[in-house]
Amino acid sequence: MDRFLIRGGGELEGRVDVSGAKNAALPILAASLLSAEALELRNVPQLQDVRTMQRLLAGMGVQIQREGDWMRLQASDLFSVEAPYDLVKTMRASILVLGPLLGRFGEARVSLPGGCAIGQRPVDQHIKGLEAMGAEIRIEHGYLLARADRLRGARIVTDMVTVTGTENLLMAAVLAEGETLIENAAREPEVVDLARVLVAMGAHIQGIGSDQLRVEGVHALRGASHRIMPDRIEAGTLLCAAAACGGRIRITSALPASMDATLEKLREAGASLQTGEDWVELAMHERPLPVNLRTAPYPGFATDMQAQFMALNALADGTSIIHETIFENRFMHVQELNRLGANIQIEGNTAVVKGVRGLSGARVMATDLRASAALVIAGLVAEGETSVERIYHLDRGYEGMEGKLQQLGARVERVRA
Ligand code: EPU
Repeated sequence: MDRFLIRGGGELEGRVDVSGAKNAALPILAASLLSAEALELRNVPQLQDVRTMQRLLAGMGVQIQREGDWMRLQASDLFSVEAPYDLVKTMRASILVLGPLLGRFGEARVSLPGGCAIGQRPVDQHIKGLEAMGAEIRIEHGYLLARADRLRGARIVTDMVTVTGTENLLMAAVLAEGETLIENAAREPEVVDLARVLVAMGAHIQGIGSDQLRVEGVHALRGASHRIMPDRIEAGTLLCAAAACGGRIRITSALPASMDATLEKLREAGASLQTGEDWVELAMHERPLPVNLRTAPYPGFATDMQAQFMALNALADGTSIIHETIFENRFMHVQELNRLGANIQIEGNTAVVKGVRGLSGARVMATDLRASAALVIAGLVAEGETSVERIYHLDRGYEGMEGKLQQLGARVERVRA
């Protein structure tokens, strides 16, 4: 298993491009199932999760060509409507094929995702919504077996805001008969990016970007081309790293308009920020100030940025409180940050972070994607050497992270197993 070897200390300085968003790319790749015509994509990030989605779709018969960040997917002939356990267990977002398969083929067989490091993450809302649209769904041998002659429009109110739940229901609704109303819909920019692709494919969707999506089903969708939006979480992670290390960096090919909550908290932490339409410049020359956080659905503070801000708060001049309200077990980085000398205590879904003056390098273990990002940030600051093990978690969602950090002057290298 690869690991990162980091020699901490030193400011970050320079310019780096942000990649396409993982959490927009995954549903958009799944949307290729909705049409017999080709979907052409640019700015597709080269990530393990994207490769998993590619394998999943190719295993059903989707023809896929890929060159760099360009991808063309065509689902004209499928020979399977199954998402097998072996792939689903490595990536929960595989559930995103359920809605489109049911919508276009009236049938899907998707393995139930098993346990997950950050929380239980049930898919009951996906099922409830599809059932409201007339699907018959049962569980057999660990698989969701779903069937429908043709889905019909329905009014669906989800119990909580769910990102992939909204995306699945939206993809099912675009080919359903009549009107579907999705209330309490997720407003994440990645949901908006997916909705834009669907509209380009001929779908009728109103309320894009709001918590009420109104979809008038059509009989068929056509091909389209689309550029995947920039990854706001990767961008936020790089900015957090620079805020923790100090220095001045500029991130480009970014979308600051999707990053309000993160930018606001970085300012509160003492960073000075300038933004343009597609860039952010951050300068930080003081010890960070502590910032209190409460994770929430968009436009609130993203749970996917919680771990990285925890690393920043660990160094702050004072104490901060972090509430994680989305996932019940997303504090696994705390033990590891404490091994680097942080002073963090957890009580239920709250972490109390007492800032320390410095961290000291150690061997630490990544447990999930964003936890690994927090450990890398902490390692960049820690005195001496930090080895972040199980870096495959990071590779699921960050494209060439070591290269980007090196570009900013960080001393980080990948040690291949
Ligand atoms: N939930 C249910 N039932 C459902 C669906 C969700 O109880 O049927 C609960 C979840 O357990 C959780 C909350 O609702 O407590 C919100 O979960 P959501 O469904 O929004 O999460 P997700 O769609 O599975 C996506 C991202 C995550 C991100 C969350 C929250 C993708 C592929 N994944 O997951 O990204 O943390 O939304 O914003 O879009 C990551 O990139 O590191 C990551 C984990």
